[in-house]
Amino acid sequence: MTDLNDLVATAKATFADALTPADLENAKAFFLGKSGRVTELMKGMATLTVEEKKSLGASINVVKQAIELALNNRRHELADAEMLGQLQAEALDVSLLGRRRGQGGLHPVSITLERIEAIFGSMGFDVAQGPEIESDWFNFTALNTPEDHPARSMHDTFYVEGGSASAPNLLRTHTSPMQIRHAVQHVKAHRLAAGVSEAGLFAGDMPEIRVIAPGRTYRVDSDATHSPMFHQCEGLWVGENVSFKDLKFVFTDFCRTFFESDDLVLRFRPSFFPFTEPSAEIDIQFQSGPLAGRWLEVAGSGQVHPNVIRNMGLDPEKFIGFAFGMGPDRLTMLRYGVNDLRLFFDGDVRFLAQFQ
Ligand code: PHE
Repeated sequence: MTDLNDLVATAKATFADALTPADLENAKAFFLGKSGRVTELMKGMATLTVEEKKSLGASINVVKQAIELALNNRRHELADAEMLGQLQAEALDVSLLGRRRGQGGLHPVSITLERIEAIFGSMGFDVAQGPEIESDWFNFTALNTPEDHPARSMHDTFYVEGGSASAPNLLRTHTSPMQIRHAVQHVKAHRLAAGVSEAGLFAGDMPEIRVIAPGRTYRVDSDATHSPMFHQCEGLWVGENVSFKDLKFVFTDFCRTFFESDDLVLRFRPSFFPFTEPSAEIDIQFQSGPLAGRWLEVAGSGQVHPNVIRNMGLDPEKFIGFAFGMGPDRLTMLRYGVNDLRLFFDGDVRFLAQFQ
């Protein structure tokens, strides 16, 4: 009997040593297989008496069942261990921070353009857009800009293919061509509406032209305050009774709204542009804050030149207006206290993310 009890203990120990299901099935053969220990014990009974067979047989059966039980227990243990291992290997640490996709945002200059559009929109201005590759006519000639004007110089201007040899196409040097493009469309539409189809300057009734035209402009220029690509926003207001007083009012209102400050004064400094007469640079001065006391130039402006009114298809005896062209890049620098224009166009997200 002790032999039999030892056999159960040995089987349990051997099964416990088996660390994988395959090892366990091999160990099983040693005890319960065809030539295993239990089978041998059974065979050994052949020479015994019937009485002996009865009692030993019963004992061997108990041992056999004990070994089978031990085997099944170990099978379950190994299966559980395998499952646990797999669960641990595939575990997710739900306390770990996720990897977020960076959120995009508007470029600071785009934020400024949206503000400009919203502010002028609230004053009844439309928003127009036009091509960045311009013809000589719209960029210069229609704007009363003589052929010897320095803006036509190769040193200032990016000429591109197209146009004629004496008047090649170019990347627009300002948004002022949109004055002509927009006005011509406007006049054409109202000529049709008014049934006035004949050519010649229009002197009929027409709703006022009130438009801004923001966009990219180009000049051969590059330093901390100039970039070969920069932004401008044109403004145009043409009607029968529009004056410099309206320009002053509109632009002052714009600046105060844009900078969210009434503590700001404007100065119209006499200047020259071929397409306005008289012309003025618009300077602003903050009365408080980090920029206080300095005159800062923010726009060129003036009363639209009669030749330009004519090139819009309008009779200058009847129509008058003003125009301005401002620099949204400059406005953005002033609003946020940025001192190098190039930062806007380097594409460094560490800089750009600060405006979100
Ligand atoms: N187009 C001019 C410039 O680029 C600015 C301007 C626009 C001046 C409209 C007067 C009227 O400097």
